[in-house]
Amino acid sequence: MVMSSETSTCPVTGASSAPRCPVTGAVSERAAAFDPFGDAYQADPPASLRWSRDEEPVFYNPELGYWVVTRYEDVKAVFRDNLLFSPSIALEKITPVCDEATEVLASYDYAMNRTLVNEDEPEHMPRRRALMDPFTPKELARHEPMVRRLTREYVDRFVDSGHADLVDDMFWEVTLTVALHFLGVPEEDVDTLRRFSIAHTVNTWGRPSRDQQVAVAESVGKFWQFAGTVVDKLKADPSGDGWMPYSIRLQKDMPDVITDSYLHSMMMAGIVAAHETTANAAANAVKVLMENRQAWAELCADESLIPNAVEECLRHNGSVAAWRRLVTADTQIGGVAVPKGAKLLIVNSSANRDDRHFDDADAFDIRRDNAVDHLTFGYGSHQCMGKNLARMELRVFLEELTTRLPHLELVPDQRVTYLPNTSFRGPEHLLVQWDPAANPERRDPSILDKARPALHIGAPTKRTITRPVNVTAIEPLGGDILAVELSDGNGRPLPRWSPGAHVDLELGDLSRQYSLCGDPERRDVYRLAVLREPDGRGGSRYVHERLALGDTLRMRGPRNHFRLDPDAPHYVLVAGGIGITPIIAMADHLAAIGASYELRYCRRDASSTAFVDRVTRDHGAHLTVHTSTEGTRLDVSTLLDGAPNGTRVYACGPQRLLDALEASAADWPEETLHVEHFTTTRTELDPAVEHSFDLELADSGLTIPVAPDETVLSALRSRGIDVASDCEEGLCGSCEVTVLDGAVDHRDVVLTNAERASNTVMMTCCSRATGTRLTLGL
Ligand code: HEM
Ligand code: FES
Repeated sequence: MVMSSETSTCPVTGASSAPRCPVTGAVSERAAAFDPFGDAYQADPPASLRWSRDEEPVFYNPELGYWVVTRYEDVKAVFRDNLLFSPSIALEKITPVCDEATEVLASYDYAMNRTLVNEDEPEHMPRRRALMDPFTPKELARHEPMVRRLTREYVDRFVDSGHADLVDDMFWEVTLTVALHFLGVPEEDVDTLRRFSIAHTVNTWGRPSRDQQVAVAESVGKFWQFAGTVVDKLKADPSGDGWMPYSIRLQKDMPDVITDSYLHSMMMAGIVAAHETTANAAANAVKVLMENRQAWAELCADESLIPNAVEECLRHNGSVAAWRRLVTADTQIGGVAVPKGAKLLIVNSSANRDDRHFDDADAFDIRRDNAVDHLTFGYGSHQCMGKNLARMELRVFLEELTTRLPHLELVPDQRVTYLPNTSFRGPEHLLVQWDPAANPERRDPSILDKARPALHIGAPTKRTITRPVNVTAIEPLGGDILAVELSDGNGRPLPRWSPGAHVDLELGDLSRQYSLCGDPERRDVYRLAVLREPDGRGGSRYVHERLALGDTLRMRGPRNHFRLDPDAPHYVLVAGGIGITPIIAMADHLAAIGASYELRYCRRDASSTAFVDRVTRDHGAHLTVHTSTEGTRLDVSTLLDGAPNGTRVYACGPQRLLDALEASAADWPEETLHVEHFTTTRTELDPAVEHSFDLELADSGLTIPVAPDETVLSALRSRGIDVASDCEEGLCGSCEVTVLDGAVDHRDVVLTNAERASNTVMMTCCSRATGTRLTLGL
């Protein structure tokens, strides 16, 4: 936090009247000037706080009386600790209410109390656990047909008109209807509820004038009464479907956990939580996609990209811009002392644009592979319970709109306005237009019945992030090897990669991994080499027999599980046969940076010359070629003779070679050997052999059982915990989580022995517990 003596005095009003930080007595000019109701924050919260992320990530704002937290790590740390940072003020009115409005609220017996989002422990977790079941992916899947039907009905209403206000004509009502269905509330007058919801937002997070406060209080009071009536109705007959009837039924068994006050408050808060957040998120998503036309066009061409695009929309332009917490003991946030009793405005929208966590964070990239790390749903034990319902709605909206209105565009020059408040953010109206004569369904009505695979409920996996690539060159290299060059299907630069990286190519029904062996500096083309393997699993046959110039393939990656340690004093690169492909890129890199390295190239006989000329030309002085038929087979036991301490060995090739190296590595120092694995020996879980155990989640406060026939990853997902994944075979490292306690039975091929021994991380897609319990940092 920057607090120099110069900044402690206000240049305008003079030192004595300058607002003061309660701890240091100083407040920087910009911290004092921050106004979450001002134009800059209202127009673009993360942009208005860039200065803070860069220079003063935790600051006190005297006008608001809040400490403002803007960096990713700090915001996440605050969400993570719900004891030190109590959520009790999450729904407190950010602007104090005038007496008149208080009287109005009292006249309606307004008594909004703790629900879940603002409940402290020990009350919160038992309630959350008890009420979780309707949010499991299995339960949510039941709602998809309803969400799709509603979405289609609303699009039907305007599809032929050529224009719509997507907020008024679709998002507001569909999300409200879905929310009411989910909650199990009879559908009421949508317009009235709309007025109620807006009043609630302004009441909680806005800065209404005195007169507005009274009007808002009237609506809030009526909303409160309405909620009470609905609860009474449902109590009279709690047999129906939905979260509220479910809660009422539970009340019989746990009256202390599911109290009357909770039910009444949740009835009101639940409608807002489930509805406005999602309507706003949908409007934000379409707006940002219209402004990034290329991304929209790609979703129209390939809807499998939608799940990750939804996460990127939520990251880049989420519907909850900031949240609140109360500090319960003197502490530090990001190194800044913050006293007990301090109120925090944690700006999750700013955290989502923190370059320290997201590369080029202001860029909108539907293929961003950590988009799902966004904090728009909060994090930890209070993380949004409805996130997977919201994700499902957003995905269905985008699937339907990209299919039926790919030519949608924003009405130019419209002034997009936002309801002024700190937290709930979305356009009040979003005017769009299109040429109805060009509607695809007029040419081909069958698109309306498009068959889709069942929607995956939950966070998307990295495997959904694909891009089209065109085959721009195929060149025989001899020895039954083809070099293949690929360029981006949309003519854009390909992602950067580093030596050792590979891509996954979809070849017909197959998906195969190939190392990149071209020049990492080139973003216009990727180069890979494929050996024909007549007894292989079919990928190489596809490339050799069917792949043609100009073909378009789907590609995932690049990913790198075989990264060079940048600091080794010496490198030994070992390649067997076609395993030379990642090794070439490594050798080129080491030569370019002037590192000390040697290259051992093993081949069966002298006829396997495909890469010999190339490596001789570029690495001759460092190269030894080992040819089995000539008796110069590599002796792995002598590989490190004379090599300095800290030497790293990188190897790729046939399993026999890797096994021999792994056997020798038993006598080498830890971390010496690194091998590229494209397959594992992992087999299906056999319940007769495996045992069950419990996961304790330190950040979320949950205990989750893992059955003998399920993975840790699937158990976590079934309870709505987001963990990234890619290979789901223990190869890639995407699903790594922190282990706090309990011994892990490691079954991946990613971690080194030292990492395993440290027992601090595990791969959730394959590894398990040795004992009966693991505590994870989730
Ligand atoms: C909590 C955002 C949709 C139900 C939250 C929190 C945020 C949030 C920021 C507080 C998290 C924390 O304190 O760590 C959103 C966004 C949504 C959305 C951005 C849409 C895009 C929904 C939906 C429901 C829902 C559809 C369905 C009922 C809840 C509940 C909580 C919550 C019950 C309280 C959880 C607890 O404190 O244990 N949401 N939400 N939300 N949300 Fe959502
Ligand atoms: Fe790749 Fe688990 S998802 S190691």
